[in-house]
Amino acid sequence: MRILITAGPTREYIDDVRYLSNASSGRMGYALAQAALDQGHEVVLVSGPVDLMPPKGCEFHAVETTEEMKTASVAAFDRCDGVIAAAAVCDYKPRERIEGKLAKTGGPISIDMIETDDVLAHLGAAKGRRWVVGFALESQNARENALQKLRAKNCNWIVLNNPTAIGSLNNEVELIDESGQPIMRWAGSKQEISTQLITWLETNLP
Ligand code: CTP
Repeated sequence: MRILITAGPTREYIDDVRYLSNASSGRMGYALAQAALDQGHEVVLVSGPVDLMPPKGCEFHAVETTEEMKTASVAAFDRCDGVIAAAAVCDYKPRERIEGKLAKTGGPISIDMIETDDVLAHLGAAKGRRWVVGFALESQNARENALQKLRAKNCNWIVLNNPTAIGSLNNEVELIDESGQPIMRWAGSKQEISTQLITWLETNLP
């Protein structure tokens, strides 16, 4: 299979030096890319800025903003059999990016923010015969929220995890299907979980 994987955070610039982003090491997405390569698949990795080396053998696209992640992912998805969206996409961006550096005013300021595009929802809407696996990071009503995301983004499955996963080497996840129920539970290093997920996909894809 050829698998598209999104990974890492995206950045949304307030001015030329300041940005809004998400806490994300990129480890989960990079571990998935490595596991897929190890199991003989082709990987297109679209990644926001992280301190990790892309796994050897993948097709790598470095991006910074959500818009760039969307453009690179939509272009790559055409050539892929499915997508695993592990990126921690920044959900908001300033309505306008200020040119240069905004000087301090000596008082509070407010910034008008709008939502960024949803990369996964875009891919889900266009998936056709391809499969789509999303991630959901939830701190409360986890399964209900995960199911809502699965539906809204037209995913086949969604990997549910919680904020303790951020920056950690380990993770504890549930794989949720369209019934909203966990059909698999995996715990361990992000590399171990990735191997389990790729193996599970190999045997359960139609
Ligand atoms: N995602 C995406 N583009 C966005 C937001 C999220 O592709 N603009 C993807 C993530 O990569 C993940 C899934 O959607 O696979 C769910 O991300 P999550 O951050 O849990 O949910 P959000 O849709 O951002 O909703 P909320 O922040 O309200 O929980």
